[in-house]
Amino acid sequence: MADIKIPENIVDFIQYLLPERSSFFEKIEKECEKEYIPLVKPEVGQFLQVLLGIKQAKRILEIGTGIGYSALCMAMASRCEDRHITTIEIDKDRYERACSYFEEADVSSIITPYYGDANEIIPKLNDTFDFIFIDAAKGQYPEYFNKIWSLLEPGGVLVIDNVLLNGWVIDMYWPERRKKTMVCRVRDLLETLKDHSELLTSIIPLGDGVSVSVRKIE
Ligand SMILES: C[S@@+](CC[C@H](N)C(=O)[O-])C[C@H]1O[C@@H](n2cnc3c(N)ncnc32)[C@H](O)[C@@H]1O
Repeated sequence: MADIKIPENIVDFIQYLLPERSSFFEKIEKECEKEYIPLVKPEVGQFLQVLLGIKQAKRILEIGTGIGYSALCMAMASRCEDRHITTIEIDKDRYERACSYFEEADVSSIITPYYGDANEIIPKLNDTFDFIFIDAAKGQYPEYFNKIWSLLEPGGVLVIDNVLLNGWVIDMYWPERRKKTMVCRVRDLLETLKDHSELLTSIIPLGDGVSVSVRKIE
């Protein structure tokens, strides 16, 4: 089956309706495009900012820093007293570039970047979080979910990017054999979110699909 994508005219219109981005964000977008570095779509960056505005989250955990674009979107969302972002990146070069962007944007004091494998770092974190954003290796999504679960506070929000995977998860289609595990694991994660008695979840067809869940307050 062919990839299912949001029609281009809708994407263009949604992007047209975004506020103009600063030259700083445009610079990072161009760098990522030139070097094939993955990053959230600008409309997903905006969506994160909207969610943070609603939730007024203070303790944020991000899995998958990249070179810092989404963390910067969250750090520079409408200012909130005491907001702090913990973000984890496995690639040393990307981690270092993210750190220098955090300094350039003067947000280093509110971001703690970790270099390493999230699967090893998450169990060592002593904090709990009221907002968790997952955007790392898609084939590890169920693993990340199991690891972050005990750190997500009741009432906390969990956002996961790329959950529709070009629509492949709908029909369990993989264009190449090596993508099979990734598709199966993202689908497993979606089934987990669907069946989870302590979560309420919506899937938003924005970018490559974003799930938004809230941990119920018992
Ligand atoms: C889609 S990119 C993140 C983009 C970033 N959220 C942004 O929008 O700017 C995914 C990142 O996750 C990182 N990654 C993959 N597996 C990881 C792991 N196990 N632990 C930490 N980071 C990981 C990759 O190196 C990559 O930079």
